[in-house]
Amino acid sequence: MAIQLPPGIILIFRRLPRLLLPPVSIYILLRVCDAVLDVSVPYWLQFLAYILSIPLTPMVSVIYTDYVDSREAAARGAVLPPRATSKWPAGLDILLRMVANSKTGYMGEVLEQEAEINGNTFNAKVLLENRIFTFEPEYIKAILATKFNSYGKGPMFWDQVNSLLGTGVFNSDGDTWKFHRTMTRPFFSRDRISHFDIFEKHAEDAISQFKQRLREGYPVDFQDMVSRFTLDSATEFLFGKDVCSLGAGLPYPPSSPLAKSAFTENHPANIFAQAFAEAQVAASSRGRYGSNWRFFEFWSDTVKKRMDICYQFIDPILKDALQKKRDLKESGVNDDAKEGETLLDHLVNYTEDPTVIRDETLNIMIAGRDTTAGLLTFVIYMLSQHPVVLTRLREEVLTKVGGSRRPTYDDMREMKYMRAVLNETLRLYPPVPFNVRTSTEATVWPSVNGGKPLYIPANTRVPYSVFLMHRRKDLWGPDALEFDPDRFIDQRLHKFLTPNPFIFVPFNAGPRICLGQQFAYNEASYFLVRLLQAFSSVSLATDVQKPPPAEWAKGPGRQAVEKIVIKGHLTMYAADGVWVRMDEANQNETVI
Ligand code: HEM
Ligand SMILES: *[C@@H]1O[C@H](CO)[C@@H](O)[C@H](O)[C@H]1NC(C)=O
Ligand SMILES: *[C@@H]1O[C@H](CO)[C@@H](O)[C@H](O)[C@H]1NC(C)=O
Repeated sequence: MAIQLPPGIILIFRRLPRLLLPPVSIYILLRVCDAVLDVSVPYWLQFLAYILSIPLTPMVSVIYTDYVDSREAAARGAVLPPRATSKWPAGLDILLRMVANSKTGYMGEVLEQEAEINGNTFNAKVLLENRIFTFEPEYIKAILATKFNSYGKGPMFWDQVNSLLGTGVFNSDGDTWKFHRTMTRPFFSRDRISHFDIFEKHAEDAISQFKQRLREGYPVDFQDMVSRFTLDSATEFLFGKDVCSLGAGLPYPPSSPLAKSAFTENHPANIFAQAFAEAQVAASSRGRYGSNWRFFEFWSDTVKKRMDICYQFIDPILKDALQKKRDLKESGVNDDAKEGETLLDHLVNYTEDPTVIRDETLNIMIAGRDTTAGLLTFVIYMLSQHPVVLTRLREEVLTKVGGSRRPTYDDMREMKYMRAVLNETLRLYPPVPFNVRTSTEATVWPSVNGGKPLYIPANTRVPYSVFLMHRRKDLWGPDALEFDPDRFIDQRLHKFLTPNPFIFVPFNAGPRICLGQQFAYNEASYFLVRLLQAFSSVSLATDVQKPPPAEWAKGPGRQAVEKIVIKGHLTMYAADGVWVRMDEANQNETVI
């Protein structure tokens, strides 16, 4: 076992050369003065020079780099992006505002305030590191598609999420990424009708527990329920064996005496799910500190601590699945029906290394599980606020599929309104609201609205937000902040989205577009069809749901109408869940 140094110590060792260079240079300079020029510098001045050299050197280096960058920009007929206003040195006030915002504010508030001053692209330099935020479709297109080869997730992203994910398709770059993408892609492109069997099994489980709980008189945290549904579905697809998180039961409202029980608290699936969620929160909060995150987890890696809990749960499941695979191979029995069904079956064709397989499956689980649960959560939240949309969606379900039958692949394709509801939810509540790339070489972003092209230096972090882009009135029309699925069907579609497809990229775009897009639409549609066959209305359980802070009511945009607190780690979620009640459908309801 290798000895693990605390993260803070590792960072100090890494920074030491850069830290020591200035005082060492001062020392040499003073010696030269003394020996060659015979000038003796007074002690107090020597002392001052040593002390000041440490903070001054990075500042001078930043000023110098800025100078070089603006010259490079000018040489290409471009300019540098505007600098976000910072009153304190090293952008510390911006950092503090962002930290405060992540605690009680509305998502993206600080960035939106900056955008009002600087436009939709600006450099929020924090701790002396450039960070060029953008929510401009033309630039997002450059990052993801037209200049794909000049951007990567970057060594910093990898460093930030390595203790969460190891290395896999989701967090690697370059040839490593190509290898992982090639390895996982065939798994998704196959037409897997049997997928629906897995959806059916877990949807049935979830919905019947949901019904039962409502009959007992309690509301249900819809977010928790669909997270269990997507976790069980994902693990069954990936490993061929689900983690039975629905088997732990649905939680009761926190105010209920039944909320705390030894059974639920000690249930391995709950322990796993909670540790996994905390690991994601911890990993994503590192993003704020850039390469300095180790200072904030000085003595121990908070993500790894939680992932160790997750591994205790996942490793035996993986080991089992691998063993089964080996036994089958040795006995020569070809399990035709199952061959190639799970990701695991697929991966063992490429490698037997359990760590590679574990990392890859976790990469895909993280990409697919919380995102789809988030989509379903925000759909139900929106349906609870827009009963007219629910009625129309339900009508479509009953017309196309009827009141009890399982939906087929063809049904899904014909449910246009379902797609529009999903898209409209993905627009206002994209499960991946913020993302980041790092430039691997200097590039120029094209001119937008007659402005000058922008120069992006090499090794620069460029965080981009589809969340903020999806809500821009200049891109979507004056009603951009309203939830209205018809905008994906009526003339607004041709007016805004068709001519400018990069204004809507919930699944990203370009060579790294989400591998599971179709899978996600199917999974979400399947669940919603089954749900709306069983229930006819939905309302937020305001007696249980914790409302947002009172000052939100005075906020701009959707902040004022929000009934739940939205947060984001790698993905978007509702901070205190989404507690709902639903009315059971009339069983005699005839199919229209
Ligand atoms: C509503 C649901 C989903 C949304 C909004 C979503 C969104 C995204 C986004 C934005 C990315 C790009 C991440 C990046 O490169 O920075 C991505 C990548 C990915 N997604 Fe999804 N996703 C969803 C569901 C799924 C599902 C269900 C799966 C698999 C079962 C999946 C598998 C993947 C994989 C493997 C990648 C990495 C692709 C690569 O880097 O080459 N996603 N997804
Ligand atoms: C694994 O490889 C074997 C032989 O090359 C092939 O028959 C099988 O279909 C592959 N399985 C998967 C899941 O790709
Ligand atoms: C929903 O968005 C996807 C792109 O993500 C698009 O292909 C599809 O046509 C849209 N469907 C509807 C009904 O808006």
